Parts: sequence; C-alpha cells; structure tokens
Amino acid sequence: MTLLLDNRQRAMLAEMGVRTDFLPATPLDVPAAVEPAEVAPMKVQKVETRPEAATPQAPSIALAQPLAGLASTAVSELGWEALEQSVRACQACGLCKTRKNTVFGVGAPAAGPGLAPHADWLIVGEAPGENEDLQGEPFVGQAGRLLDNMLKAMGLSRRAQGAPQDSVYILNVLKCRPPGNRNPQPEELLQCAPFLERQVALLQPKIIVAMGRFAVQSLLKDSVPQVESIPLGKLRGQIYNYRGIPVVVTYHPAYLLRSLAEKAKAWADLCLALGRARRPQD
Ligand code: URA
Repeated sequence: MTLLLDNRQRAMLAEMGVRTDFLPATPLDVPAAVEPAEVAPMKVQKVETRPEAATPQAPSIALAQPLAGLASTAVSELGWEALEQSVRACQACGLCKTRKNTVFGVGAPAAGPGLAPHADWLIVGEAPGENEDLQGEPFVGQAGRLLDNMLKAMGLSRRAQGAPQDSVYILNVLKCRPPGNRNPQPEELLQCAPFLERQVALLQPKIIVAMGRFAVQSLLKDSVPQVESIPLGKLRGQIYNYRGIPVVVTYHPAYLLRSLAEKAKAWADLCLALGRARRPQD
C-alpha cells in the first residue's frame, strides 16, 4: 500500500520529527495492515501522563463502582442530537459543577437531519483541557494543533466536508474538564462511558485511534485483561477491537509535545491505522 505525500504533508511530517527528505517525490510505502501475530514485540515505553498530572499511579477503571448517575440503558437508545443534549445537561458527576462547557465532539457534519456524522476515522482523546472547556471543542490547544498536523499528514481533517474516508470525528472519553487538568477519576470515567459507547455505536467509524492511556483503557478494558497495568508502549503495534471496530493505540499528542523522540512511533501507529482503514472490507 502506498501513501502519496505532497509538500504540505512532508512539512507536517517534518514537524512530527519524521524524515521524508530521502524519499523520492513519489509514494511513501505505508505498511499493509498488520495483524497482531505479525507484530514484533515492542520495547516498554515510558507511559505518558497528562501534562499537569500529579498522580503517579494510573487509576484503574475497573476499580470504580457505578454511581447512581445516568442510566446507561437510556443513553444507549438516544439519537445523535438527543445524545448531545443529554451530555449538555449531564450532572452525573462533580465535573458539572466546575465545567464552563461540555465538549461533545467535533468533525464531519451530520449525515442528515438528526443523523450522526459520517466519518471513517474516530479519534478518541482523554478529557477537555482549559481551552477546550472554554470553547466547547476538543483539541483546540497546542496538543490539538499537533493532532491537526498529524491528521493533515494523512490527508485527513476535522473540517473535511467530503467523502467519509477523508473525514474525522474527534471526541474525548470525558466530556467535561477535570479541574486543573488533573487525571480523570475512575467514577468520572465510569459515568461518562455510556456517552462514548453511544457515540461510537452511532458513528460506526471504520477505524478508531485511541490517544493516551485513558482512551486506551476505556476502549480496551473489556477486551484486554488488566489493560490498566500495561504500559501504553507495550500495547502499541496491534489492532484491537471495540464493539467490532478496529482500534489502534497511540501516544497522546500532549505527551508527544514533551517527548519528541516518540513522534516517529506515533507516525508508525498512524500508518498502521491507515493500512487498516484502507483495507478492503472483510
Ligand atoms: N487533551 C485531550 O485528551 N483532549 C482534548 O480535547 C484536549 C487535550
């Protein structure tokens, strides 16, 4: 499989620390979809934390007990618009007291009145930060700029209006900002989980890219035993499955801003995702 790189994409890749100058002005090879068995074991990488995170230990989602919040059965039946309203009105955890805005998601426009967007790519981040809380849109700060550049390097955009294969939808596991950008707490992740589940069910993307450990834990907790205790670097390089949709694991853009050496690995993860997304339907 090949990826045609134009000058802009080359510039984006350069910003990500990926050299393309030695390549001819012709296609760059993208690895074909890699099945788990073909993936060489990876070295353990440092696990990223949210920039301001002080908690040394990743909270385990599995430890959380469901609170008497939203009934997930109700959420699982909502349409896209009702779901968005339900997020806006949500008071299932304490984050509703400090948020300025809920952050539902952004990307491809609705496929029709009341319908979910039609996008092949779903990017799942962790939680809104200060800028996202103010603007009500995910990934609008520095990490968001890097994410947009990563998407551009793949020929994708959150603003794409056209074909689903170029379109992206971006959302977070948590819809409200944890104060001071602290790590999401287990009970907050648990209360928000039905929203993520319903968004994915309605969007039906071709591929999900899980960015950072909270996104990874949320999406893989039912399919990877003890996922919360596995370093993200060890989870990379395989294609997982969330409710029938392939999932690729990668580093969070905020972590990449602080760990430049890992940008090339993130690009490898995106190439894995590209290969899987472009594979003919099974
Ligand atoms: N980090 C995230 O995970 N999501 C955002 O929306 C912003 C920063």
